Amino acid sequence: MSGASSYRNFSYPLNVFMHILSREEATVRYLHYGLFESGDEPIAEAQERSTEMLLERLPPPPARLLDVGVGLATTLARLTRSGHDAEGITPDEHQIATIRERYGDELRVSCAKFESFDGRPPYEAVFFQESSQYIDSNALFAAASAITGHIVVIDEFASRPLGTPGALHDLGTFLAAAEQHGFAKTEEIDLSRHAAPTIDYVASRIAQYRDDLIADLGLSLAQIDSLVESGDLYREMYRTGAYVYRLLQFRR
Ligand SMILES: C[S@@+](CC[C@H](N)C(=O)[O-])C[C@H]1O[C@@H](n2cnc3c(N)ncnc32)[C@H](O)[C@@H]1O
Repeated sequence: MSGASSYRNFSYPLNVFMHILSREEATVRYLHYGLFESGDEPIAEAQERSTEMLLERLPPPPARLLDVGVGLATTLARLTRSGHDAEGITPDEHQIATIRERYGDELRVSCAKFESFDGRPPYEAVFFQESSQYIDSNALFAAASAITGHIVVIDEFASRPLGTPGALHDLGTFLAAAEQHGFAKTEEIDLSRHAAPTIDYVASRIAQYRDDLIADLGLSLAQIDSLVESGDLYREMYRTGAYVYRLLQFRR
């Protein structure tokens, strides 16, 4: 797998997801959930379905686009090669190293947090494929309002404020922050049912690759236990509807 030398240093638990995917797929293309149509579908196919939903919503080339939380830059490469004026950011320098291993200098990527990124505005669209959960909702829409009038988000949320440390952002607060910064929601699709099988996919493989995860990533037994616990918690949160997965579009 290209990029194999650097993914071990990706922030935890993205390094775990990457480890598991790299044992299952010849090339890991994405760090996002799959959107499964059936339980026995390969995760790569389910992940591609999510990317397709995103791409369908972006303006055609040569639009200037910003990919926030570029991950492995598979989507960015696709957009760049199709003639978009696209750039991507991630605060993880190890992801940048993997991207350079894969693509050399072909892609425009910077090591930066969205909240403090100046970039080259205006962008015809800015998208967050599972990166909005890492950014304070108010800070996200405040920064976005300065550089774009079109936002696409695919991500998971808490359906109500949970008040527990480490819980996902709640959707109501996210939507209110959008409105407060002048963004009208133009689309909302509930993808929870399709995304949730990703949790089972990962959880079952944490058990399967336990020893390998310890040897390859230097995880402790306590970290493995906490991953298993977190998988159980996530499964329950999706089952009860406390966590949901959404595609959202906003315009200003
Ligand atoms: C779950 S990964 C998704 C990666 C990619 N979008 C994909 O779909 O494969 C989350 C991404 O968000 C990035 N990220 C985390 N905090 C961020 C921030 N404050 N600003 C921009 N990106 C951030 C991570 O480094 C990572 O690239």
